[in-house]
Amino acid sequence: MILFAFAFAFAFVPVLVAVPVPVPAPARKLVLVPVLVLVDFRCSPSAANRNPAGARPRLQPRSPIGIFARRRPGRPMAPLPIPRFRSSLSAADLLAGLLALRPSAAPERPVAEFEAAFAAATGRRHAVAAPSARAALAALLPALGLGEGDEVLFPAWGYFAMPAAARAAGLQVRFADVSPDGFLLDPDAVAAAITPRTRIVVPTHLYGQVCDLDGIEAAARAVGALVVEDGAQALGAAWRGRPVGASGVAGVFTLGVTKHVTALSGGVVVTDDEGIAARVRARLAGERTTPAAASLRQLATGAAFAAASAPPAFAAAVWPPLLAGDLAGRDLLERFFGEEPDPLAAASATLPGRAMPGAVQAAVGRSQLSRLAATAEARRRAGRALAARLRDVPGLTVPREVPGSDPIYSSFATRVRGQAPEVLGRRLRRRGIDCTRGFMQDCASLPWLGGDRPGGAPHAASAAAEVLHLPLHGGLGEGEIDRIARAVEEECRRLA
Ligand SMILES: Cc1ncc(COP(=O)(O)O)c(C=O)c1O
Repeated sequence: MILFAFAFAFAFVPVLVAVPVPVPAPARKLVLVPVLVLVDFRCSPSAANRNPAGARPRLQPRSPIGIFARRRPGRPMAPLPIPRFRSSLSAADLLAGLLALRPSAAPERPVAEFEAAFAAATGRRHAVAAPSARAALAALLPALGLGEGDEVLFPAWGYFAMPAAARAAGLQVRFADVSPDGFLLDPDAVAAAITPRTRIVVPTHLYGQVCDLDGIEAAARAVGALVVEDGAQALGAAWRGRPVGASGVAGVFTLGVTKHVTALSGGVVVTDDEGIAARVRARLAGERTTPAAASLRQLATGAAFAAASAPPAFAAAVWPPLLAGDLAGRDLLERFFGEEPDPLAAASATLPGRAMPGAVQAAVGRSQLSRLAATAEARRRAGRALAARLRDVPGLTVPREVPGSDPIYSSFATRVRGQAPEVLGRRLRRRGIDCTRGFMQDCASLPWLGGDRPGGAPHAASAAAEVLHLPLHGGLGEGEIDRIARAVEEECRRLA
């Protein structure tokens, strides 16, 4: 009976995930969420992890899919595909969130405790929760005394929502290029692009790599500008032993559900300055707190992400439509990770449906923060191992750590030269290695953002043509790293 229920559910999951059939969204979720949660909450970060290097990964015996995929004697089982993304949410995180749904006499206390934990994690005196990172930046910039005519300088390669938030706060934006072989703001380009009207420079620690903060701070100081770190993808990383977020006048972070540290939704401003923290808080005071129904929906979405990104569920429910999408030249998962850069949406600094984190988000965030050091260490170890394996592959540039930094490899972004990254990505997918082009843009080429350098950031433009993310998370074992590295080496050689 149970087997039949699973078989029936699985027949529909790929359709529900990917195909735009006329099933209303709530009905999709009603079917999808319980199925994905049932499918494999029991799975450890990676069954393959415990296998010796090179050994074929096995399904966990108690995984429901394992019931169908029992191995015939003498026949090795095909290894499971390696997903591009592994949710950082554990059952304990979600349970903490669920328990926080209970009515409380002091509902603001969990948020205050979460803010204190976040401040400690970033080495700051104050942390203020916000609805999102863009809302955090939009509240912070006026709190720093910026007004009409003032400029904020961003990396040209980045997430459009941050310069858009500065525009929404009534400010001008400028862009400086990134380094030729990587994706991070280049201090020399900052020195070339900065003007006397520039009040803030925003180094974005993209993909968990850390910018050269010494060089950027020196370029900013030359015109009296301050530094605000965008640590959205690098919580847990460090610059010269100091946590990301601890340098400059302030830092901003996101807590979105796809991040390596998440509170289901939200953002944070960190600073040492009591006055700035109080002004940010005052600016956000009018925002409503996430209602209980929305928190419940976020918990269900988080559970679905966690279950669907566990390898067995991913293999059964997500992989088939993903491969089908490849045939049509479409990446069907893209819409879950990024947004279309939309001029109208960018005019507002808030996300539709986003509100201030409440007790549920705070409980999930605290639970995640409690293992931040372990999360960071595991990602760093996996990222360094994969980079070491791929350093000499011709036509491929792997992440290079800026000396003095301790990155956390929130993703593994490479530059592919001499061949189309989509082609390499499709070939890798055929070998069970899921890849993505990611969701960053050459913001300097988006004229509606109002930067004054359309086409003036050649390295950001080349990043757009070359970027390809290989799968990376802290649970990757030696066997999986070896599988990724061998597939990339062989396919790059064939395409050369
Ligand atoms: C580097 C970076 N900055 C800012 C943001 C925006 O965060 P939010 O969606 O919370 O506004 C993101 C979102 O992914 C990001 O990756």
